[in-house]
Amino acid sequence: MIVRHDDHPNLLEFRHPLIRDKLTRARDEATPSGEFRRLINEIAGLMTFEICADLPLAEVEINTPLEAMVGARLEGPVTLVPILRAGLGMTDGILQLLPEARVGHIGLYRDEVALEPVPYYCKLPERSSEGTVLVVDPMVATGGSAAHALTMLKQQGCDNVKLVCIVAAPAGVATLLEHHPDVPVFCATLDRELDDKGYILPGLGDAGDRLFGTT
Ligand code: PRP
Ligand code: URA
Repeated sequence: MIVRHDDHPNLLEFRHPLIRDKLTRARDEATPSGEFRRLINEIAGLMTFEICADLPLAEVEINTPLEAMVGARLEGPVTLVPILRAGLGMTDGILQLLPEARVGHIGLYRDEVALEPVPYYCKLPERSSEGTVLVVDPMVATGGSAAHALTMLKQQGCDNVKLVCIVAAPAGVATLLEHHPDVPVFCATLDRELDDKGYILPGLGDAGDRLFGTT
């Protein structure tokens, strides 16, 4: 189940019991890195099912072992773009459902003091503007990193883009609405607020560090 928020018209928040259960386990500081990584991938996979509900289909003729029939296949390419590093933690879970998706990478880190995104890498598949682009990053805090990634993709001509995150903060969702009102933001939870260092409360901590065992 997905809920909409009157004050965040760009946001779609999941309320599925399986997602809520896995999210609570992921939030728990006692959850070790390997299990955290598994949970984040599983949540991303569960979200993908609904996020892809409007993907266009094309009719195709096939032969089953018994007869010819007209079936349906996804029409356009899907391009997955994780924002490094933490977006990598959602990639395998999504690729399990979209194994033919192409994968581009955008490298950004958030300056710890200014909280501004610092770009360091961008490698996109050819013709990435074709079809649907899913930008993935577990955390949307100030929204600066996601907004910057979306701007980079639009500069490459991508105009059918969805943003997929695990935890969103109200400030970040508002930033995205201001700069990219055309981009739907799917989240597993809309959390309360940011602390004075830009971390999401209650959140799940530093997603990249928990995924990769760094501090
Ligand atoms: C985290 C997270 C987002 C960003 C969110 O990345 O994965 O990319 O911060 O913050 P914002 O919404 O305020 O921009 P981080 O900068 O920690 O880099 P990492 O993924 O390499 O750990
Ligand atoms: N980045 C994270 O990994 N966690 C937060 O709470 C905010 C930004």
